[in-house]
Amino acid sequence: MGIRIIKTSSYLPNKIVDNLYFEKILDTSDDWISSRTGIRKRHFVGDEEMFDLIRETIVKLDLSQDEACKIKTIIVATSTAFHAIPNLSSQVQEEFNLSEDTYSLDINMGCSGFVAGLKLIKGIIKEGEYALLIGVEVLSKILDFTDRSTAVLFGDGAGAVLLEHCEKDSFFKSGTKGNRDVLNYGYNSPKLYMEGREVYKFAVSTVEKSMLEFLQQIGIRKGDIDYFISHQANIRMMESMAKSLGVSMDRFPSNIDRVGNTSSASIPILLDYMNKEGKLRPGDKILMLGFGAGLTWALAYMEW
Ligand code: ACO
Repeated sequence: MGIRIIKTSSYLPNKIVDNLYFEKILDTSDDWISSRTGIRKRHFVGDEEMFDLIRETIVKLDLSQDEACKIKTIIVATSTAFHAIPNLSSQVQEEFNLSEDTYSLDINMGCSGFVAGLKLIKGIIKEGEYALLIGVEVLSKILDFTDRSTAVLFGDGAGAVLLEHCEKDSFFKSGTKGNRDVLNYGYNSPKLYMEGREVYKFAVSTVEKSMLEFLQQIGIRKGDIDYFISHQANIRMMESMAKSLGVSMDRFPSNIDRVGNTSSASIPILLDYMNKEGKLRPGDKILMLGFGAGLTWALAYMEW
């Protein structure tokens, strides 16, 4: 028994910030940012709040009354919620008048949060039910705009998926290597702090190794995967992973050039881009790969 994504949506705030903006405020260049990360622009909120991004992406899901009635699980994955009470998923239930017979929980697992949410949904959802999973971040509010090594990397946005229970099994694996020094906000820094090189090494060593073990455990060959849908942190990481797996880059889709690193929102936004472009076909074998703050990682295998 597994889960299947039946609808996707995404919402990016209107303000587009290109690399030239950072040339004006920091000792950096469009060339450095685009060649070292793949990022050309990102979206930042103006006067929008996080819940505005959530609302817009759910509206774009265009839920029918029947779909809305069947939603019995709501999960919001985020690391940048600015208040803890009430949680965001309860506000989704209220705003969209969803069933009271609903699990509503928020999870903070950095850039791994969306994929971890899929695993939780598999455990909660029952036949005939639907689940709503949203990844959302307003990272611009916690960026240090005097730090060129982090400010240029991140963007704001939201993505959502509607899921149903299905016969075909889906599989998950997750891991944690607790380390508050290399990536934190509010621990030893009032703004987001990251030792990028350390996180990079973690992703292309630990996470990549775990991915190979995962494929072996579930008996799927890497050559059978249609798409490796990776967290969009740096195009060079994806190129490195594709190279060591021996697969071509067209199986590592990316939209990092347009959105930057949107943490928990990164994978659902990419899924929505691919879905809208008609790239995802029923039966496609997909491996999702989230990694980041914690340090944590989460992997999911499912069919489209
Ligand atoms: N413009 C110009 N120079 C820069 C910039 C910039 N924006 N940023 C850093 N540099 C400089 C550094 O100061 C350093 O200079 P030095 O050699 O004189 O000391 C030089 O560039 C090289 O710095 P590195 O950090 O080694 O650069 P690297 O090639 O590793 O790229 C980057 C840095 C882009 C951050 C990369 O390490 C990376 O993508 N890391 C992974 C980030 C990640 O995966 N995050 C995911 C989790 S995020 C979350 O969970 C919220």
